[in-house]
Amino acid sequence: MKILICVGSTCHLCGSKRVVTRFQELVEENNLQDQVELAGKFCMGKCGEAVNLTIDDENYAVTPDEVDEFFKREVLAKL
Ligand code: FES
Repeated sequence: MKILICVGSTCHLCGSKRVVTRFQELVEENNLQDQVELAGKFCMGKCGEAVNLTIDDENYAVTPDEVDEFFKREVLAKL
């Protein structure tokens, strides 16, 4: 599974740094380093009020406070 998180300027203002950090922690806590690849990406042209990311080319937007719930639903449940 490949997760690309936008680190463009609007997403940065929406908390992309916190989102990236929490994703990294969750991947480690769940020992998913072999199954989940995390990377940053520049503006995806979808700037809004949350941080844009893609999981295997599907688009999502999450706020830093939603990451844990999102990870459970869209990552853990789909591996
Ligand atoms: S800065 Fe992230 S989509 Fe534009």
